[in-house]
Amino acid sequence: MAQHKITLLPGDGIGPEVTASVVAIIECAGVNVEWEKYLVGAEAISRFGDPLPQDVLDSILRNKVALKGPVTTPIGTGFASINVRLRKALDLYANLRPVKSFSSIKTRYENIDLIVVRENTESLYAGLEHEVVPGVVESLKIITAKASTRIAKFAFDYARTHGRKRVTAAHKANIMKLSDGLFLKCFRDVSKEYPEIQADDKIVDNLCMQLVMNPNQFDVLLLENLYGDIVSDLTAGLVGGLGVVGGANIGLNGAVFEAVHGSAPDIAGQNKANPLALLQSAVMMLQHIGEMKAAQKVSEAIVKLLASGPEHRTRDIGGTGTTSDFTSSMCALLRKSPS
Ligand code: NAI
Repeated sequence: MAQHKITLLPGDGIGPEVTASVVAIIECAGVNVEWEKYLVGAEAISRFGDPLPQDVLDSILRNKVALKGPVTTPIGTGFASINVRLRKALDLYANLRPVKSFSSIKTRYENIDLIVVRENTESLYAGLEHEVVPGVVESLKIITAKASTRIAKFAFDYARTHGRKRVTAAHKANIMKLSDGLFLKCFRDVSKEYPEIQADDKIVDNLCMQLVMNPNQFDVLLLENLYGDIVSDLTAGLVGGLGVVGGANIGLNGAVFEAVHGSAPDIAGQNKANPLALLQSAVMMLQHIGEMKAAQKVSEAIVKLLASGPEHRTRDIGGTGTTSDFTSSMCALLRKSPS
């Protein structure tokens, strides 16, 4: 059986608990992985003087794939977000978040099946800020034709290879005529190369309203960085919240698969954390490394587990179980499933 080398960044808060669970489940699915484990965040500062040591980047560049738990980012002061630094350093320009309903998790809408593609490297989210004079700060929104074109291509390529019918771009080009206007122009230019896929656009505030009123009308959504950050959480809320959706940051240098929730310091170390979101990211990772059968097995086991008794899932999704209960129930289901 082929062995995969994957960089593992457990992160902090609930990160180590959910990554340990997912590592165990991947093993139960019969996938042979040699994990290269690294510290990042506050603990890496105290040990190595850098929240994102070069060794970590080298490992991801070597292995091309990483699984990452959440990392606490200090607010207002302190080190810059590890996620933002990772995305910039490795040029992980595309953030991909599939948002799909589970029939056993009751939400306002059924059968949601959306793909959110977010540009990951620029716009206001890049954190280019400075103090002009005391009491006045400036935050720069950079939009380039190069980044806008490649993310549009990513969205249309994804749509083409996954049999999706429509890509909708979101923007505020009515107000930010130059920056969002450029993003929209690049989207429209790229769309011409994909005549079989319907391309349209919505002003982002209208998109938000339509998403909460009639989400099933959408297929693939394409957004610049900050809008993508906000709208991808909104869409996660449509199917049960941040505890159930996975995400990936993808570029030509590698791909980092991570849960979209944070480090949840309020429940860290209490065996309460839900590993499902990271597991969903791990399913995407298994597909990415060509372990299609294992990915399928894990996906099917997740559906079965969620439809079974509350003792197998955690409290945030209506269960009564612990993190360890989730892990052992998933492993039991995987051992039973045909190989
Ligand atoms: P959060 O997502 O950590 O927590 C929000 C709420 O959701 C909390 O009540 C938490 O207990 C719950 N929750 C989150 N994940 C859960 C899980 N897997 N199972 C059960 N409950 C879960 O968001 P918050 O509190 O805004 O951020 C905490 C820290 O995480 C901050 O330092 C933030 O910067 C960082 N963060 C890191 C991210 C990453 O590394 N990818 C992403 C988002 C936030």
